Amino acid sequence: MAGTAPIEYQRDYFESTLSKARAFPREYDFYRSFLGLYVQGDSVLNVGCGPLFYEDLMHFNQLPRHYVGVDINSTAFEYMNETEHPRLEECRNYVKANNIRTESVDESIFDWAANTDQRFDSIFGVGVFATFYGEKFEQLMKVLWRVLKEGGHLVNVSWDGDYYTEKIAKEKVDYQFGQGGPGYTPDEVVQQIEKGGFRLRERRIIMTDDPKSYRWDSIHISAYRKEWGS
Ligand SMILES: C[S@@+](CC[C@H](N)C(=O)[O-])C[C@H]1O[C@@H](n2cnc3c(N)ncnc32)[C@H](O)[C@@H]1O
Repeated sequence: MAGTAPIEYQRDYFESTLSKARAFPREYDFYRSFLGLYVQGDSVLNVGCGPLFYEDLMHFNQLPRHYVGVDINSTAFEYMNETEHPRLEECRNYVKANNIRTESVDESIFDWAANTDQRFDSIFGVGVFATFYGEKFEQLMKVLWRVLKEGGHLVNVSWDGDYYTEKIAKEKVDYQFGQGGPGYTPDEVVQQIEKGGFRLRERRIIMTDDPKSYRWDSIHISAYRKEWGS
């Protein structure tokens, strides 16, 4: 039965992401610069942000006025708001200095996006969309379509070919950081997003330098637009 990740899991996830980003700058720059390019506008939604809600913001080229993170694990927000980790203090100061209104929503994206009155200029998910499959993926596209403004951008970042141990994979499922069972290939993810009505603007792929240490074979990034009349 899926549950909530303990706060220590969020801390380890955050800290290991920072150290991996230092060890693999090419891989992290690859997707962060893409986010920087396509995440635009005053209102931005980060779907399944995890403890990287503020970290992702640090890589945008254009700063939003309103930045919302939705994550089913409330401990992600508890960790980010309570920790004294210097990077998170830096991020929180950056938010204040740039007068960005942030909002944390500890709910499932399916429930929240089906009901909210808010609409966004850009929506993105890092390591999130491709964890869903079949009807659930279709439902995700429907709710994201609902909350994206006409002309707005949808950005997806996903990884392919994991080297997880059984223990890591099980923890991910238990804490809703991933799903068990079948998943889409990177090509299918793009097709499914297009099937949701979004128009593909750009897609890029890199093969990682050292898959065993990085724990993934490749990174896939794609940007879409909600177009008038589509
Ligand atoms: C693999 S993690 C990715 C976290 C982060 N975006 C990153 O860049 O590492 C997947 C995230 O999606 C969240 N999540 C899973 N199901 C969700 C749902 N139905 N609604 C909102 N968030 C969800 C998890 O709690 C987790 O933080």
